[in-house]
Amino acid sequence: MSTIRLGDKAPNFTADSSMGSINFYDYLGDSWGILFSHPADFTPVCTTELGTAAKFKDEFDKRNVKMIALSVDGAASHAEWIKDINEVENTVVNFPIIADEDKKVSDLYDMIHPNADNNLTVRSVFIVAPDKTVKLTLTYPASTGRNFYELLRVIDSLQLTANHKVATPANWEHGKDVVVSPAISTDDAKGMFSRGVTEVKPYLRMTPDPTA
Ligand code: BEZ
Repeated sequence: MSTIRLGDKAPNFTADSSMGSINFYDYLGDSWGILFSHPADFTPVCTTELGTAAKFKDEFDKRNVKMIALSVDGAASHAEWIKDINEVENTVVNFPIIADEDKKVSDLYDMIHPNADNNLTVRSVFIVAPDKTVKLTLTYPASTGRNFYELLRVIDSLQLTANHKVATPANWEHGKDVVVSPAISTDDAKGMFSRGVTEVKPYLRMTPDPTA
Protein backbone atom coordinates (compact mmCIF):
# COMPACT_ATOMS: atom_id res chain seq x y z
CA MET A 1 0.00 0.00 0.00
CA SER A 2 1.23 3.46 -0.79
CA THR A 3 -0.40 6.82 -1.11
CA ILE A 4 -0.94 7.77 -4.73
CA ARG A 5 -0.29 11.42 -5.45
CA LEU A 6 -1.00 13.67 -8.41
CA GLY A 7 1.60 13.20 -11.13
CA ASP A 8 2.43 9.63 -10.01
CA LYS A 9 2.16 6.79 -12.50
CA ALA A 10 -1.10 4.92 -11.87
CA PRO A 11 -0.07 1.42 -10.74
CA ASN A 12 -0.95 -1.25 -13.26
CA PHE A 13 -2.73 -4.47 -12.23
CA THR A 14 -4.48 -7.49 -13.63
CA ALA A 15 -7.68 -8.45 -11.86
CA ASP A 16 -10.91 -10.39 -12.29
CA SER A 17 -13.96 -8.30 -13.09
CA SER A 18 -17.60 -8.51 -14.08
CA MET A 19 -16.31 -8.69 -17.67
CA GLY A 20 -13.53 -11.26 -17.06
CA SER A 21 -9.85 -10.75 -16.43
CA ILE A 22 -8.70 -7.19 -17.04
CA ASN A 23 -5.26 -5.64 -17.30
CA PHE A 24 -5.71 -1.99 -16.33
CA TYR A 25 -3.24 -0.50 -18.82
CA ASP A 26 -4.48 -2.71 -21.70
CA TYR A 27 -8.06 -1.73 -20.85
CA LEU A 28 -7.20 1.98 -20.90
CA GLY A 29 -5.12 1.84 -24.09
CA ASP A 30 -4.54 5.45 -25.17
CA SER A 31 -7.69 6.74 -23.46
CA TRP A 32 -8.17 8.66 -20.27
CA GLY A 33 -9.46 6.53 -17.39
CA ILE A 34 -11.61 6.86 -14.30
CA LEU A 35 -11.26 4.22 -11.57
CA PHE A 36 -13.77 4.45 -8.72
CA SER A 37 -14.30 2.17 -5.74
CA HIS A 38 -17.49 1.06 -4.02
CA PRO A 39 -17.62 -0.22 -0.44
CA ALA A 40 -19.55 -3.42 -1.21
CA ASP A 41 -22.10 -5.11 -3.50
CA PHE A 42 -25.83 -4.89 -2.70
CA THR A 43 -25.50 -1.62 -0.80
CA PRO A 44 -27.95 1.22 -1.45
CA VAL A 45 -25.73 4.22 -2.22
CA CYS A 46 -23.43 2.13 -4.44
CA THR A 47 -26.44 0.86 -6.37
CA THR A 48 -27.48 4.43 -7.20
CA GLU A 49 -23.92 5.41 -8.07
CA LEU A 50 -23.33 2.54 -10.48
CA GLY A 51 -26.71 3.10 -12.15
CA THR A 52 -25.87 6.78 -12.52
CA ALA A 53 -22.39 5.98 -13.85
CA ALA A 54 -23.95 3.69 -16.48
CA LYS A 55 -26.30 6.49 -17.59
CA PHE A 56 -23.31 8.84 -17.87
CA LYS A 57 -21.22 6.45 -20.00
CA ASP A 58 -22.00 8.33 -23.23
CA GLU A 59 -20.65 11.52 -21.65
CA PHE A 60 -17.45 9.76 -20.54
CA ASP A 61 -17.14 8.19 -24.03
CA LYS A 62 -17.44 11.65 -25.65
CA ARG A 63 -14.44 12.72 -23.57
CA ASN A 64 -12.49 9.55 -24.43
CA VAL A 65 -12.60 8.35 -20.81
CA LYS A 66 -12.84 4.63 -20.01
CA MET A 67 -14.75 3.82 -16.82
CA ILE A 68 -13.82 1.04 -14.41
CA ALA A 69 -15.38 0.46 -10.99
CA LEU A 70 -14.23 -1.72 -8.09
CA SER A 71 -15.91 -3.53 -5.24
CA VAL A 72 -14.38 -6.02 -2.81
CA ASP A 73 -16.85 -8.82 -3.69
CA GLY A 74 -16.44 -11.57 -6.28
CA ALA A 75 -17.48 -11.66 -9.95
CA ALA A 76 -20.48 -13.95 -9.31
CA SER A 77 -21.80 -11.48 -6.73
CA HIS A 78 -21.19 -8.58 -9.14
CA ALA A 79 -23.21 -10.39 -11.83
CA GLU A 80 -26.22 -10.72 -9.50
CA TRP A 81 -25.88 -7.15 -8.24
CA ILE A 82 -25.66 -5.76 -11.78
CA LYS A 83 -29.09 -7.34 -12.48
CA ASP A 84 -30.48 -5.35 -9.54
CA ILE A 85 -28.76 -2.13 -10.61
CA ASN A 86 -30.08 -2.45 -14.16
CA GLU A 87 -33.59 -3.07 -12.86
CA VAL A 88 -33.65 -0.39 -10.15
CA GLU A 89 -31.89 2.30 -12.19
CA ASN A 90 -33.48 1.31 -15.52
CA THR A 91 -30.10 1.13 -17.25
CA VAL A 92 -27.42 -1.31 -18.39
CA VAL A 93 -24.12 -1.35 -16.51
CA ASN A 94 -21.81 -1.20 -19.48
CA PHE A 95 -18.31 -1.01 -17.99
CA PRO A 96 -16.33 -3.47 -15.84
CA ILE A 97 -16.51 -3.74 -12.06
CA ILE A 98 -13.29 -5.18 -10.63
CA ALA A 99 -13.93 -8.18 -8.37
CA ASP A 100 -11.38 -7.35 -5.69
CA GLU A 101 -12.10 -10.16 -3.22
CA ASP A 102 -8.44 -10.42 -2.18
CA LYS A 103 -8.26 -6.60 -1.90
CA LYS A 104 -5.16 -6.55 -4.09
CA VAL A 105 -6.22 -3.50 -6.10
CA SER A 106 -7.78 -1.79 -3.07
CA ASP A 107 -4.46 -2.10 -1.25
CA LEU A 108 -2.46 -1.00 -4.30
CA TYR A 109 -4.58 2.17 -4.52
CA ASP A 110 -4.94 2.67 -0.74
CA MET A 111 -8.72 2.44 -0.96
CA ILE A 112 -9.20 0.91 2.50
CA HIS A 113 -8.90 3.42 5.30
CA PRO A 114 -8.87 1.28 8.47
CA ASN A 115 -9.98 4.05 10.79
CA ALA A 116 -13.09 4.46 8.63
CA ASP A 117 -13.68 0.73 8.02
CA ASN A 118 -11.30 -2.22 8.16
CA ASN A 119 -12.89 -4.27 5.40
CA LEU A 120 -14.69 -2.01 2.96
CA THR A 121 -13.22 0.54 0.59
CA VAL A 122 -13.98 4.20 0.88
CA ARG A 123 -15.34 5.90 -2.28
CA SER A 124 -12.08 6.67 -4.07
CA VAL A 125 -11.81 8.26 -7.51
CA PHE A 126 -8.68 8.29 -9.66
CA ILE A 127 -8.58 10.05 -13.02
CA VAL A 128 -5.70 8.88 -15.20
CA ALA A 129 -4.37 10.64 -18.32
CA PRO A 130 -3.41 8.79 -21.52
CA ASP A 131 0.25 8.78 -20.35
CA LYS A 132 -0.99 6.91 -17.22
CA THR A 133 -0.21 9.72 -14.79
CA VAL A 134 -2.75 10.37 -12.05
CA LYS A 135 -4.47 13.71 -12.60
CA LEU A 136 -7.08 13.66 -9.83
CA THR A 137 -7.70 11.81 -6.60
CA LEU A 138 -10.86 12.16 -4.53
CA THR A 139 -11.97 10.36 -1.40
CA TYR A 140 -15.59 10.35 -0.29
CA PRO A 141 -16.94 8.58 2.77
CA ALA A 142 -19.13 5.49 2.31
CA SER A 143 -22.18 7.48 3.40
CA THR A 144 -21.90 10.06 0.57
CA GLY A 145 -22.65 9.18 -3.04
CA ARG A 146 -20.48 10.95 -5.62
CA ASN A 147 -21.61 13.70 -7.97
CA PHE A 148 -20.98 12.46 -11.52
CA TYR A 149 -21.58 15.93 -12.97
CA GLU A 150 -18.59 17.07 -10.94
CA LEU A 151 -16.45 14.24 -12.27
CA LEU A 152 -17.28 15.24 -15.86
CA ARG A 153 -16.60 18.88 -15.01
CA VAL A 154 -13.14 18.02 -13.66
CA ILE A 155 -12.38 15.97 -16.77
CA ASP A 156 -13.40 18.94 -18.94
CA SER A 157 -11.02 21.15 -16.95
CA LEU A 158 -8.17 18.61 -17.08
CA GLN A 159 -8.52 18.15 -20.82
CA LEU A 160 -8.79 21.89 -21.46
CA THR A 161 -5.80 22.82 -19.31
CA ALA A 162 -3.71 20.01 -20.82
CA ASN A 163 -3.98 21.71 -24.21
CA HIS A 164 -4.22 25.45 -23.44
CA LYS A 165 -2.28 27.74 -21.12
CA VAL A 166 -5.27 28.34 -18.87
CA ALA A 167 -6.73 27.26 -15.54
CA THR A 168 -10.41 27.04 -14.59
CA PRO A 169 -11.94 29.16 -11.81
CA ALA A 170 -14.35 28.15 -9.05
CA ASN A 171 -17.51 26.45 -10.29
CA TRP A 172 -16.30 26.67 -13.88
CA GLU A 173 -18.16 24.67 -16.50
CA HIS A 174 -17.38 24.14 -20.18
CA GLY A 175 -18.03 27.37 -22.09
CA LYS A 176 -17.49 29.77 -19.20
CA ASP A 177 -14.53 32.16 -19.06
CA VAL A 178 -11.22 30.74 -17.91
CA VAL A 179 -8.18 32.10 -16.11
CA VAL A 180 -4.97 32.82 -18.03
CA SER A 181 -2.11 30.76 -16.64
CA PRO A 182 -0.14 32.85 -14.08
CA ALA A 183 3.13 32.01 -15.91
CA ILE A 184 2.05 34.13 -18.92
CA SER A 185 2.40 37.91 -18.98
CA THR A 186 -0.71 39.90 -19.87
CA ASP A 187 1.00 41.16 -23.05
CA ASP A 188 1.83 37.63 -24.16
CA ALA A 189 -1.70 36.50 -23.24
CA LYS A 190 -3.18 39.20 -25.49
CA GLY A 191 -1.21 37.76 -28.42
CA MET A 192 -2.16 34.20 -27.51
CA PHE A 193 -5.92 34.53 -26.90
CA SER A 194 -7.51 36.18 -29.94
CA ARG A 195 -10.89 36.51 -28.25
CA GLY A 196 -9.54 38.96 -25.71
CA VAL A 197 -8.05 39.11 -22.24
CA THR A 198 -9.57 41.05 -19.35
CA GLU A 199 -7.17 42.06 -16.61
CA VAL A 200 -9.19 42.01 -13.37
CA LYS A 201 -5.95 42.21 -11.35
CA PRO A 202 -2.39 41.88 -12.66
CA TYR A 203 -2.48 38.27 -11.41
CA LEU A 204 -6.10 37.51 -12.44
CA ARG A 205 -6.69 37.64 -16.19
CA MET A 206 -9.80 36.15 -17.78
CA THR A 207 -10.35 34.97 -21.34
CA PRO A 208 -13.23 33.15 -23.06
CA ASP A 209 -13.04 29.33 -23.02
CA PRO A 210 -10.84 28.68 -26.10
CA THR A 211 -12.77 25.48 -26.89
CA ALA A 212 -16.28 26.93 -26.69
C1 BEZ B 1 -23.95 2.19 0.50
O1 BEZ B 1 -23.43 2.03 -0.59
O2 BEZ B 1 -25.14 2.42 0.60
C2 BEZ B 1 -23.15 2.11 1.75
C3 BEZ B 1 -22.06 1.26 1.82
C4 BEZ B 1 -21.35 1.19 3.00
C5 BEZ B 1 -21.71 1.97 4.08
C6 BEZ B 1 -22.78 2.85 3.98
C7 BEZ B 1 -23.51 2.92 2.80
